[in-house]
Amino acid sequence: MVCLTNVQNLTNDDFNSISCLVYNSIGVNLTEAKKALVISRLSRRLRQLGMDSFTGYIRYLEQNPAELEIVFNCITTNVTSFFREKHHFAYLESTYLPNLETMLSKTERAVPQEIRAWSAGCSTGEEPYSLAMTLHNYFRNKKKWNIKIMATDVNTEALRKAQTGIYALKEVEGVPYELLKTYFRLGTGPNNGFFKVKESLQKLISFRRLNLAKPGDYGLSEPLHMIFCRNVFIYFDKETRSKLLQRFYRCLLPGGLLFLGHAESINTASDQVGRWRLLEHTIYRKTD
Ligand SMILES: C[S@@+](CC[C@H](N)C(=O)[O-])C[C@H]1O[C@@H](n2cnc3c(N)ncnc32)[C@H](O)[C@@H]1O
Repeated sequence: MVCLTNVQNLTNDDFNSISCLVYNSIGVNLTEAKKALVISRLSRRLRQLGMDSFTGYIRYLEQNPAELEIVFNCITTNVTSFFREKHHFAYLESTYLPNLETMLSKTERAVPQEIRAWSAGCSTGEEPYSLAMTLHNYFRNKKKWNIKIMATDVNTEALRKAQTGIYALKEVEGVPYELLKTYFRLGTGPNNGFFKVKESLQKLISFRRLNLAKPGDYGLSEPLHMIFCRNVFIYFDKETRSKLLQRFYRCLLPGGLLFLGHAESINTASDQVGRWRLLEHTIYRKTD
């Protein structure tokens, strides 16, 4: 039951405590300008707990580490959509996949071939499902290709939705009609009016919680052909972005691709010099 207590103002000290905690845990950089966002996103949680002050909530957090997951779920922004930034998927279809096919047909005779991708910061799943549709649709009438997509996020609520693969009509608007017909079925019973991703597509994706900012390596067993990390860097500062880029570089095969969001870029004049080649707006290739 929601208790309608009035939550008191967020003091500068409390804001600093929360922003330090968030920055040190998941790298999200909550500048002063984000104070209103923190108040609106966390006030609801405070009311649920029947608390009226952020100072009390911070004490509660210190005593209940499991509450951190809820803070991250509240603070992260999960805006996404199917086939967001269409030119990324068009580039795969028109250029990268045909080139990869040609290259592998010359060098490796063995089948099946495998293509490995990572949607890093996948939110509620629209990105990895768009990627899965693009890859599956491309290879559908060709010799056997295994498609493996890893989809990760720090927000466990977003991941839960991603794993169900259930979307409202409004949410699937960006899916081209042919793909919608092929890869979704109409929900029944409680899911009436919703669309559900078919299992054949879902099984290409493994979802898991992964904090990109956590030190150490990402525990990938094999190098990847591509990483989609779009509209995630905007929440990080320069230092965190630079660390992530170094780790992404190590996760990719030579010539592997990195896709960033529309407002993001790699400063190739910095410590990343010589490592990435810009192919098209926000599409980078790891230099060999
Ligand atoms: C705006 S969404 C972008 C979703 C999708 N990539 C897209 O472009 O449509 C940003 C996502 O990054 C995730 N995120 C933020 N910090 C993260 C971290 N440290 N580790 C993993 N995911 C993180 C958020 O939870 C959120 O789902």
